[in-house]
Amino acid sequence: MHFISEKIDKYVVKHSENEPQLLKALTRETYQKVLQPRMISGHYQGRVLSIISKLIRPNVILEIGTYTGYSALCLAEGLDPDGVLHTIDINEELVDFQRRYFNKSAYGPQILQHLGPAADIIPTLDTKFDLIFIDADKPNYIVYFNQIIDKLSPGGVILSDNVLWSGKVVEELDSKDLSTKIVLEYNTLLKEDPRLETVLLPIRDGLTVSIRK
Ligand SMILES: C[S@@+](CC[C@H](N)C(=O)[O-])C[C@H]1O[C@@H](n2cnc3c(N)ncnc32)[C@H](O)[C@@H]1O
Repeated sequence: MHFISEKIDKYVVKHSENEPQLLKALTRETYQKVLQPRMISGHYQGRVLSIISKLIRPNVILEIGTYTGYSALCLAEGLDPDGVLHTIDINEELVDFQRRYFNKSAYGPQILQHLGPAADIIPTLDTKFDLIFIDADKPNYIVYFNQIIDKLSPGGVILSDNVLWSGKVVEELDSKDLSTKIVLEYNTLLKEDPRLETVLLPIRDGLTVSIRK
């Protein structure tokens, strides 16, 4: 969902970095072969992720929700040359697809794929993270937050995707809609946690940037 007019959106994209050729190819193949291609971060949000990562220059990145690998490749653009990116997804059908594109990029050996439920995998990662991108199942956002907060380095950044949830966060809540309920609680949690400094950016479906103080 776009919260700004199509005309402004086109202007914004036109005056932002071009999409790398490899990511154009990845997007094309995702739309041809994979279910729910709209889940991909895409050109503009991908460039936002890339530039944030380049500003941070992280040594260790965690991504929750790899899908076909688009956002992992964007975040990897900012990695320290000795850095690593851990990315987790539950869908085993996507593993080979992701690896093919990771290996076509300059970051193949630095990207470590983890297959399984993120809530089971995060506790097994014995490292601190400088940058964490949360972009998987919404009902678990608070679970993920509680698992990662003590693994975030001081000054480390959490990026949380889909925090406007197609605008449902400002509609009347349907009591059966668990995802919206959790996204609402999650947004309040980020705002009120004294360990964090948080800004919600109305980019695409909403992207929150939180810094660990
Ligand atoms: C929105 S997509 C991620 C998009 C990707 N970050 C990008 O921008 O291209 C969400 C992904 O989360 C994965 N996912 C859903 N539930 C999960 C879980 N419990 N543990 C790990 N991954 C999960 C899905 O398989 C899907 O690939």
